Amino acid sequence: MKIFLIGFMGCGKSTKAKQLASRLNCEVIDLDAVIVAEQGKTIADYFAENGEEAFRKLESETLKTYDYPDTCVVATGGGLPCFFDNMDWMNANGRTIYLQMTPPQLVSRLHNREKRPLLKGMNDEQLLAFIEMKLTERNAFYRQAQLVVNAFDLDVEELMGSIVH
Ligand code: S3P
Repeated sequence: MKIFLIGFMGCGKSTKAKQLASRLNCEVIDLDAVIVAEQGKTIADYFAENGEEAFRKLESETLKTYDYPDTCVVATGGGLPCFFDNMDWMNANGRTIYLQMTPPQLVSRLHNREKRPLLKGMNDEQLLAFIEMKLTERNAFYRQAQLVVNAFDLDVEELMGSIVH
């Protein structure tokens, strides 16, 4: 079984993916990290050099061509479910879990904004407005996940419980 964790930047996909993989004794794959390793540059540098459109194509291609082991937990980039048919592809090829948080919760967790090209230079107020706007668009995709969990203060045992149910 492949488990895809989706959700907005800062909702804890990478951390939860590691904890879940360790709990399930399987591999963890972070698609942003795969891109960084394959391209030899940070996501911020890739955006700056090639633009968002090129990044979205590469991200979708990486999602669909990565050689996944049979059982793994995959952390995806925050925008990935919202482009092309990526959400349908994940739903067809694994289990999808949306780690949901409210905009104020996300603001409180997004300290390192410089490494995220879409958030560069924003103060808390601008970030809150940006998240509220983006979540309105993105929730239409995120909510296609097979499981939606409240991710704030979410314990890995609780997450395991939701998956088993
Ligand atoms: C993005 C989220 C980032 C990364 C890129 C774009 C987005 O991943 O893929 O900066 O559009 O929300 P994280 O959600 O892991 O920060």
